Amino acid sequence: MGDTPSFVEWPDEPFPIEAETRDCFSPLQGDVIRNMMRRAPNGPYLELGTMNGTGSTQVVIKEFPESPIVCLDLFQSEVKLQGFINNTWEGRHNMRAMAGKTCDTLPALQATGFKPAVVWVDAGHEEDEVYGDVTFILKHFPEAIVGGDDWSTGHWGVKVQAAMQRIIEEGLIARRYVGNNGRAWFFTNRLDPDKRCRFLNGIAAKN
Ligand SMILES: C[S@@+](CC[C@H](N)C(=O)[O-])C[C@H]1O[C@@H](n2cnc3c(N)ncnc32)[C@H](O)[C@@H]1O
Repeated sequence: MGDTPSFVEWPDEPFPIEAETRDCFSPLQGDVIRNMMRRAPNGPYLELGTMNGTGSTQVVIKEFPESPIVCLDLFQSEVKLQGFINNTWEGRHNMRAMAGKTCDTLPALQATGFKPAVVWVDAGHEEDEVYGDVTFILKHFPEAIVGGDDWSTGHWGVKVQAAMQRIIEEGLIARRYVGNNGRAWFFTNRLDPDKRCRFLNGIAAKN
C-alpha cells in the first residue's frame, strides 16, 4: 500500500527545464468543457487526466480564470510533473494537483471536502477505469456537471462507450441523458443545475 496522495507543492520559480508540450487536444473537447464551464464559471473545475497541462487545462486557465482547478494525473515521472507545473504556471494561484491513479487520488481529494462543480474525465481509458471514475463521481459528487473524452469508434473510444453502457445498464444514468458531439461525451441532464431531474436526485439518494 502506498502513501495517501497529497497535493503537489508549487515551487517559487518555474523549473529550469524545457516542458513537454505535445498536445492531443481536439476543438470538440474544448467545446464541451466550455459549455460545461459556462454553467459554472466560478468552478471549481476538476480534471481527471491532465497530461502535461497544455490541452483541456488551458481552456479553464485562460477562459475561466476565476475558477479553482484541481488536476489529477499519474504524473509518472518528476520531469512530467515539472513540465505540467511549468505549462500551467500562469494559473498556479488557483490550482492544485495530485499525482497517482484516480482510484487513489479521487478518494483522497473527496476526503478533503472538495466538491467540484464541473468534472472532465480523461484519465485511464480502460473500461474499468472509466467505469470507476464515472461511478465515483456520480456517487460522491452528485451535483457536478460531468463530461469527458473520448466518444469515438477508435480503440479507446470503444472502451469508454462500453463503460458508459455498463453505467446505463446498471441504472445509474438513463441512456437519453448521455450526449456526445462525436468526440466528447456529457450528461445532458446535469447541464442546467436548476432543472435536475428526479432520476438524478434518486441516484444521490440511492448511494
Ligand atoms: C489522454 S491523456 C489526457 C489529455 C489531457 N486531458 C489533454 O487535454 O491534453 C490521459 C492522461 O491520463 C493519465 N492517466 C492514465 N491513467 C490514469 C489513472 N489511472 N489515473 C490518473 N491518471 C491517469 C495519463 O498519465 C495521461 O496523462
